Amino acid sequence: MIRIITFLTITILIMGCKTTQSQLTNVDENENNTTAMFVKDLLAKMTLEEKVGQMNLYTSFIDITGPAPAEGEQKVKYDHIKAGKVGAMLNVRGVENVRKFQELAVENSRLGIPLLFGFDVIHGYRTTFPIPLAEAASWDLEAIELSARISATEAAAAGLNWTFAPMVDISRDARWGRVMEGAGEDPFLGSLVAAARVKGFQGDDLSENNTLAACTKHFAAYGFAEAGKDYNTADIGLSTLYNIVLPPFKATVDAGVQTFMNSFNELNGIPATGDVFLQRDLLKGKWNFDGFMVSDWGSVTEMIPHGFAKDGVDATKIASTAGSDMDMESHLYVKHLADLVNDGKVEVQLIDDAVKRILTVKHKLGLFDDPYRYCDTQREKELIYKDTHLEAALEVAKKSIVLLKNENNILPLAKSGQKIALIGDLADDKNSPLGNWRLASEDNSAVSVLEGLEKYEDNTIDYNQGVQLQEGREQFIFELAINTTDESGIEEAVEAAKNVDVVIMVLGEHGYQAGEGRSRANIDLPGLQQTLLEKIYAANKNIVLVLTSGRPLAINWAAENIPAIVQAWQLGSTAGDAIAQVLYGDYNPSGKLPMTFPKSLGQIPIYYNYKNTGRPGPLEEMVFWSHYIDESNAPLYPFGYGLSYTAFDYSNLSIEKNEVGATVSVQLKNTGAMDGEEVVQLYIRDKFASVTRPVKELKGFQKIALKAGESKTVTFNLTDKELGFYNNQGEFVVEPGAFDIMVGGSSMDLLKEAFVLER
Ligand code: NOJ
Repeated sequence: MIRIITFLTITILIMGCKTTQSQLTNVDENENNTTAMFVKDLLAKMTLEEKVGQMNLYTSFIDITGPAPAEGEQKVKYDHIKAGKVGAMLNVRGVENVRKFQELAVENSRLGIPLLFGFDVIHGYRTTFPIPLAEAASWDLEAIELSARISATEAAAAGLNWTFAPMVDISRDARWGRVMEGAGEDPFLGSLVAAARVKGFQGDDLSENNTLAACTKHFAAYGFAEAGKDYNTADIGLSTLYNIVLPPFKATVDAGVQTFMNSFNELNGIPATGDVFLQRDLLKGKWNFDGFMVSDWGSVTEMIPHGFAKDGVDATKIASTAGSDMDMESHLYVKHLADLVNDGKVEVQLIDDAVKRILTVKHKLGLFDDPYRYCDTQREKELIYKDTHLEAALEVAKKSIVLLKNENNILPLAKSGQKIALIGDLADDKNSPLGNWRLASEDNSAVSVLEGLEKYEDNTIDYNQGVQLQEGREQFIFELAINTTDESGIEEAVEAAKNVDVVIMVLGEHGYQAGEGRSRANIDLPGLQQTLLEKIYAANKNIVLVLTSGRPLAINWAAENIPAIVQAWQLGSTAGDAIAQVLYGDYNPSGKLPMTFPKSLGQIPIYYNYKNTGRPGPLEEMVFWSHYIDESNAPLYPFGYGLSYTAFDYSNLSIEKNEVGATVSVQLKNTGAMDGEEVVQLYIRDKFASVTRPVKELKGFQKIALKAGESKTVTFNLTDKELGFYNNQGEFVVEPGAFDIMVGGSSMDLLKEAFVLER
């Protein structure tokens, strides 16, 4: 496709913002492009009301993933669909339901334009994969792509054609509930994971009936909510915006993502939904994105409480002008947009551009060939929750587990002759492993840890709940119940722990303690679990702690006292099997943390790629350096950290310059007794630059499998792409000078060599 980028500015002064030709969709109408020609012809037939209708997205009443719609809205929505006033629905799923809604649009509206059907397919459809943060811990891009591929296959078989994923928000704050949904704190890992997910969801051909249009969200800086409180203000500098927040978004544009979602938060005083710079200048302008932008749930109307729009009319004008092409559940475009155009307050060219983008995605999905192409009940029966999907979910789940501590090689467990006490509410929980975004999964369908361990029949297991984690925790939407104060089960659990070979404790968060709206001011073990842990420890120190959570938890006491700790997140449908196979050594853990574990809550935001400051210290017997007087600067477990049952040795780091940069090589040896996999990580430090650079930046990684005793030379290429950065004007620059090149198995355990980039 020839992209016509004209720098001739067509000056349209709307709200003081200039819309340039290059910000409008560059699907070339003059070219013999079937989609473009089709869309152009259709657009020419549409009335203004029909165009605005395409920009309207309603939720159904089947699942609700935001503030509940008002009573009596259902009928209005049906009528609007029939009148061609709706372009897409969310939260309709299942072939039968989708077909009914599609018929309303196709059979009744004047032009019969099919609807898009969107759903939060975040980590699986019915087969539930590990939460995205856990998957990121696998550092296995093929596995992540496969997880998205299978999720798309199932969701498409259930009639859907659009997923609101991947979520690519970088976050440095474990208090924020939605860290479970992203890939952690690093933009390099985050970008690769984001692109892998887009490829997985969208496949090679969007018109295939097993693919979904993906949606990159939340544009932008939603993960920088102040104090980790969901929906809160984000106020960040340009360097962080360009180098940390934006790269994963850009990576998905490069991977061909079809849609974007903006976000609830304001960024530096401008609500993202009304942000011209983000949506028009950057995304649609500089990045040439030619898909469409959907608002988040109600985020158009939320610009009123933000204090940015004075009423619904104003919010509509601001959002549509700024580049929000589709309104999710604010119901404002459908009310006000046509009038705004008729009154000359919004340029019709912007409406045409938005509608072109939306129709283009529909055409690429093949919906104009067959609006029911995703509606095949036979396929729905055959493809959803297939054995092969569950097998794949198990593989991904195993890869997502991170071994944090293993003193005296207490793990792996012996497979016979062991008396085991299994303790903790979460050990017998078949719901929590499904995580938070699991609307299409069957309640209580995951393999629990208890069930997983029971498959190793030559050991005996005595299960005790100890304490109940939280009452009423089945709820997705409603305010969560209060922690229980009932300690009555502790004594029995302590007794059970006394005369066993090993105690396995499964502690952490239940499935709805992380996720949207689930920020926590304390990230310790909720409820009475810490008390339980300490009491059991007093009875038997031989404890394996399995942590299941949607975020890094503050587990200082456990890290000091408990000999073995396994970070098992929320691992989806096959969680218990994955955990059991790791505990018994049938799978040698290979995950590495995608997010730093703090020692204290007060260290947050804590992340590996921090800036050095002018007073980095440490200074002996002096207070005047950048530190705390009551806590060290070091994290509990750093980014990139994770153990194995075998050991890996790094040696011979060498750097060879070449015309494009350098080749870096390192010798990796499996020095232990077990075969295993290691994530070899490469970091750089640009020592002096026109904008200060972090002390470390991940710029490469490879997951290497080595047999016991085997070694291998691992090589990386360093080019401008890895060595450059974004300056505060958003330009990518490569500055010659001194670098440190570091390679190792964790961000805090690295070999280092100097390198000078000459130009
Ligand atoms: C609000 C969430 O922020 C967004 O991520 C999600 O896709 C929508 N609700 C729809 O469920």
